[in-house]
Amino acid sequence: MIQKPQFGLPPYKSLENDELVARIQTVRDQWGPQLMILGHHYQQDEVIAQADLRGDSYLLSQLAADSSDCRHIAFCGVHFMAETADILANRPEKLAERGGKRVQVYLPDMAAGCSMADMAGIAQIEDAWEQLGEVVDTQDVTPVTYINSAASLKAFVGRHGGIVCTSSNARAALEWSFRRTRRVMFFPDQHLGRNTSLGLNITEAEMPVWDPHADELGGNTEEELLASKVILWKGHCSVHQMFKAEHVAMFRDKYPGIRVLVHPECPQEVFQLADASGSTGHIIKTVEGAPAGSKWVIGTELHLVNRLKDEHPEQEIYFLSPVVCMCATMYRIDLAHLCWTLENMAAGTPVNTIEVDEETAQWSLVALQRMLEVK
Ligand code: 13P
Ligand code: SF4
Repeated sequence: MIQKPQFGLPPYKSLENDELVARIQTVRDQWGPQLMILGHHYQQDEVIAQADLRGDSYLLSQLAADSSDCRHIAFCGVHFMAETADILANRPEKLAERGGKRVQVYLPDMAAGCSMADMAGIAQIEDAWEQLGEVVDTQDVTPVTYINSAASLKAFVGRHGGIVCTSSNARAALEWSFRRTRRVMFFPDQHLGRNTSLGLNITEAEMPVWDPHADELGGNTEEELLASKVILWKGHCSVHQMFKAEHVAMFRDKYPGIRVLVHPECPQEVFQLADASGSTGHIIKTVEGAPAGSKWVIGTELHLVNRLKDEHPEQEIYFLSPVVCMCATMYRIDLAHLCWTLENMAAGTPVNTIEVDEETAQWSLVALQRMLEVK
């Protein structure tokens, strides 16, 4: 029997994991396919074990977009992912299929944000676009936002003929953009933007960085902007920027033949030293496809690397940093928050719902659909 939800989160925090798992399972049994729990690969083990489906940002967006039976999505990830799920699961054709009924999306802890997404506020982006328009023709600039951004930025991009990308289709998104315009403005992750653009033979001189805190023109001269092909936003992931070139050198020295596998949010000097790179989904597939005895050092969030180590004892897997690089916001989602959210959902007293307003959703969808088309 589903427990009557207790008021507020604190009582759940004192429960043992076994009890939380049993109570989560009770809600799942009762709601069946109407409830879908999605989990991003950076979630802690006990949370990912509760996910019906897990994935990288691209796959999770696809899963939310394709959902048909489900009426509730509990998103074990961060805020921008839950917003994206809400927009895609409730797009007009899906709403029509369900006779107007919305899929309700929940983020078990509302404080699970993304520090990189917070580095690009919509007012800053609008101001940058206006300033840029004084130097170059913005009709000839495609705005590209990494999915790690607020829905308001995705809507901005949709309104201005742009596209959302993830770490798994950033190159295709840039190629798509250059078929339309001569320039791109890429936000918020300068590293993903730079690493991907270098792969398209765009030089560093053609990639000025726009600092939203600079007095004017993002700290650039008019000449630098006129010579640009990709204008990068001064944002980064605080987890991935902890990986350093010296860590790569240290592992190569100590373990000859080791292969370096990193996420493209890593800084350029690390990315360029790596043997392979890609989204979290790609990192997992690479390890899964490697023969026993392979040696890897991996530069991405700690929980994922530790899980790969546990799941592949036939391989030697190391974490590319001597210090703990974990995503503190992903880590906010725990069994207590998940159980509290699900029991309240089941009791008809929903908590932590994510609902993007109609206009923002409509324009974000334009840019997200382009993302889903250009794999
Ligand atoms: P992926 O899309 O590769 O899962 O990345 C999401 C993310 O936030 C990486 O920091
Ligand atoms: Fe954001 Fe970095 Fe956490 Fe990914 S790992 S959610 S980019 S802070």
